[in-house]
Formats: sequence, structure tokens, C-alpha cells
Amino acid sequence: MQTIFKGKDFITLQDWSKEEVDTLLEVSFDLKKKFAMGIDTPYLKNKTGMLMFFEQSTRTRNSMEAGLAQLGGHANFLDTSTMQVSHGEVAKDTGIILSRYGHMLACRNCDWGIGNDYLSSLAEHSTVPVLSLQDDLYHPMQGIADLMTIQEKREQTRNLQVSIIWAYATSHKKPISVPVTQSLLFPRYGMDVTLAYPEGYDLPDWVIEEARENAEKHGGSFKITHDMEVAYKDADVVIPKNWGSWATDLSEEEIEKNKESYKKWKCTEEMMEMADDDVMYMHALPADRGNEVEDSVIDGPHSIVYDEAENRLHTAKAVMTLTMGGK
Ligand code: CP
Repeated sequence: MQTIFKGKDFITLQDWSKEEVDTLLEVSFDLKKKFAMGIDTPYLKNKTGMLMFFEQSTRTRNSMEAGLAQLGGHANFLDTSTMQVSHGEVAKDTGIILSRYGHMLACRNCDWGIGNDYLSSLAEHSTVPVLSLQDDLYHPMQGIADLMTIQEKREQTRNLQVSIIWAYATSHKKPISVPVTQSLLFPRYGMDVTLAYPEGYDLPDWVIEEARENAEKHGGSFKITHDMEVAYKDADVVIPKNWGSWATDLSEEEIEKNKESYKKWKCTEEMMEMADDDVMYMHALPADRGNEVEDSVIDGPHSIVYDEAENRLHTAKAVMTLTMGGK
């Protein structure tokens, strides 16, 4: 078990060793049990964290704010439209100054080609740990909660058939950070991952290379298909979710032309019947109901989305406990 985390950034789980991720999960399970038993966990008494949001959030903001309060500390919610960032203050100045005021600096910036660079710049200049609340490439808070949820439902993750499936949505052009994080993380736990999407919705090449390396190293596998039915067939876990064509940048004309065929990429009861009898349906939420998924699936017996969302709290508390407190 690794014990030295204090000051460590949490921007991508790729920078955390397998042993470190294992410890993070153990601490998450411990905090979850204590929360259920009403046992106080004041591990971050009088510590302050800054939460900068360039975009909207329900789960991430509230799991971090509630989580830090439950650990005895306080979170400052910062809407960046009300900060001097909106007048052009650079990440260096923001990082240096906010880190002088507290013990952690967290940020969500999903702007394509900007977000991860912005967080890296904060981390370069911050004297306290920088935690990602999602950027254009990674969503480690979601990834660790997803892994915890799978582990608590299935004791064995080795050779679990997990399908990350593109789904049609109309709400907005969503980041690739959730499927990227899951594609990189799950093979490290021996899962057999299938990534399924219609032509044009590729993840960047380096993601596929790193996912395959992770699979090779840890005994999992990683494959790509453009056939949705292949992804559902016999799957133990399905994660149908929309993401934008960021890597390929499909034109509006192309998207419009293919719209009818994209609409078929919906998680329906018919698709779920092709999967394993005990298949679990997961989604980071918010879901585009009626487009990404039928209500009867997300509200049905295979859905574990609310447990998945709850685990955002326990894992966020574990990330903060280890990086802000500890040894
Ligand atoms: N899954 C997730 O990050 O949700 P929010 O956008 O509500 O934070």
C-alpha cells in the first residue's frame, strides 16, 4: 500500500501508479463505510480548498463541497465568470495566489485544446495539490468513482466484459474525457474493454495506444468496433454515453447527413437483452433521456447510475484526504 500522497496532483490517473490507485480505492471504501455508520472523519480540519468551475456541474461541485465539509474543511466555490480569469488573468497568477490562500486548488475547464493545458499550468505554479474536476481530456474523479462502483458490484474485475459505447444526444457537444479516462483505467484492472462508436467519433490515437499498453501490462484487453451490437453482445457492463467528434472535427453537414443512422445508437431494452443476464448499465450523468437511453433502461433493474453518482462523494473525499492531508 502506498502512503505518500500529500501534495500530489490529481489530473490524470495515468500519473498514479496501480498501487496508488489501489490505496485510493481502499480509502474510498473506508470513508463510505464510516459515512454509512455516522462516524465523523475530520481528517482535513480547518483546511480550505478552491473549486474553480468554467462550466456547469451538479455531481462534481456538490460531491467536492459536501465532501470537504464532511472532512472538517471548507470549499470555496469559484464561478470563473465572476473571477478576473474572465478579464484575462493568466493561470500562473491565479495558481500562485489561490494556492497561498488554502490547501488545494481544483478546476473544471473542458475547453477543447485548452482545459488540460490550463490545469497543467495551474499545477506548475501552485504550491498546493491541483485536482481536476474534468478537463478536455480527462475526468479522473468520474473514473475512480466508476471503478469503485464496478468493484463493489463485482468482486472480480479481471476479464469483465466492459463496453464503452457512443450514444446519440442532442443536449450539447460533450467532452471525450469520460470515455478517455475509462478506456485508460479499466484495462489496468484486467477488464476486457470494447470501445464502440460510429465512424468519425474516434478518440485520439495516443489514447488508443496507451489503453492497449495498459491492457498488455495488466492482463486486460482493448478493442474497437463500429458495430453497436458487437459491443452489447454478452457484455457485463455497458456504458453508453455521447461524446463529440473532437478528434476528427466532423463538419455540421456530415453530422446532419448521418443524423438518422446516429439516432440508432441508443441504449434500448432490445440492446440490453443481447448483453449478459446480469449486465450493469452505467452513465456518468447527466443522461440525455430518450436519446442516449430509454427511460425503461436507466430506471430499470440493470441500472446502477445512482450508486455510481453516490460514489463520486466517497472517492472525492478519498482524493482530498490523501492529497491534502496524510503523511
Ligand atoms: N458526471 C459529472 O461530472 O457530473 P457533473 O457535470 O454534474 O459534475
